[in-house]
Amino acid sequence: MLKSCELRIFLSTMKVLALILLLPCLYAEDEFYRDRNLVCFYNSDGVKLPIKDLALAVQFCTHLIYGYAGIRGDNYEAHSLNEELDIKNNHFTEVTSLKSKYPKLKVLLSVGGDRDIDEKHPNKYIELLEAGSESQKGFTKSALSLVKTYGFDGLDLAYQFPKNKPKEVHSTLGAALESVKKFFTGDSVVDSNAEKHKEQFISIAREVKDVLHPNGFLLSLTVLPNVNSTWYFDIPKLNGLVDFVNLATFDFLTPERNPEEADYTASLIGLTSQERLSHLNVLFQTDYWMKEFPVTKINLGISAYGNAWKLTDESGNTGKPIVHHTNGPAPAGPYTKKAGLLSYTEICTMLANVEDEIEKDVQSPIEAVNFGNYAYRPAKGSGHDGIWISYDDLDTIRHKAMHADPLLGGVALFNLEYDDFGGVCSGKKFPVLRTIRKELGLPLKWQD
Ligand SMILES: *[C@@H]1O[C@H](CO)[C@@H](O)[C@H](O)[C@H]1NC(C)=O
Repeated sequence: MLKSCELRIFLSTMKVLALILLLPCLYAEDEFYRDRNLVCFYNSDGVKLPIKDLALAVQFCTHLIYGYAGIRGDNYEAHSLNEELDIKNNHFTEVTSLKSKYPKLKVLLSVGGDRDIDEKHPNKYIELLEAGSESQKGFTKSALSLVKTYGFDGLDLAYQFPKNKPKEVHSTLGAALESVKKFFTGDSVVDSNAEKHKEQFISIAREVKDVLHPNGFLLSLTVLPNVNSTWYFDIPKLNGLVDFVNLATFDFLTPERNPEEADYTASLIGLTSQERLSHLNVLFQTDYWMKEFPVTKINLGISAYGNAWKLTDESGNTGKPIVHHTNGPAPAGPYTKKAGLLSYTEICTMLANVEDEIEKDVQSPIEAVNFGNYAYRPAKGSGHDGIWISYDDLDTIRHKAMHADPLLGGVALFNLEYDDFGGVCSGKKFPVLRTIRKELGLPLKWQD
């Protein structure tokens, strides 16, 4: 018979044994999660997202990317684009301090994006590439200093390159003549020095990496919408320089760039009918990078907003894309306040509101998930302005995240403040973020 002390020893031995046996499982689980990225973009200058809601969201993100810092047009130094908020009101440190609650979270500062608009120096990002190593050192030093001073874990280069030319709308004959003209004049070339800029970008990225990595900081790259990776990124050479890449695979069409026709703006797979361009879809872009870059470092970009066009009487009543005779961006939404853009929250509110008479895409679900959803209200006779919105609903988002999950490193969500942070759509806060998180197989437990 065992004495009580012996029994205790026996039991504790069993516990240790059980722990040893379980350990590989726990470790394996951690391993499994480790490589899934959910990169959350946050733009401090957009829709006001209260810090308590941001704090709630970031427990679901592996990385938070704070947008945006810019570069100065005269000396190319990196600086805050909103010193009042970021520095005087301590928003930089308020955000980086979220790490004390969620120690695994990495917070990066993004430079560029489509926010660093500078009328006096519209090409400053290209000028920085050509500026020579003294100016580039100035950029690198100032960027490192921002990262260090405000407690960031690294830098994201959302580098501004010249964008693709938008597709022109012509009659068939006009289009044929136009393409012949282009062939001779080469006016589809947006940057005759693209090859040189591609090399120069590698040397800047190397320079930035060389100051960040020894200090333990991360460097990521964000490929902005309509920036052609073939022209600007030497993809094999970027491996080893950047820790991961976020592909902003949306806004393939926008009401500003394509005012006269509306179509799916972030289609997962390519639609080749109706003269659509074969590279303007998510699969083409991710496949393109996957060929030459480690797949676990590629994050598929999903936008939590839709693009909205104004419909005219000639646009017809069916809503079926491509919708012609549109008239540029639809009026701004109440929160996002930007013509032609509506957040997930704004769209769900419109769909729920009977007064708005907005109709959802009635096509078969499989088509909707592959190409994205649309919602619309014809102009004809409705007594309202006509509107056509391309957006990703939760099914489409699930489908995109499903595609990213086994194949890629993860998903980059643009941006947290467009998600339904108030829970007005379904009573649950951040439905877009949750949907992605669930599909990536990351734990969903929520701490309030
Ligand atoms: C870049 O543009 C060219 C010409 O329009 C196109 O063939 C190519 O697929 C594009 N590359 C990417 C990555 O989109």
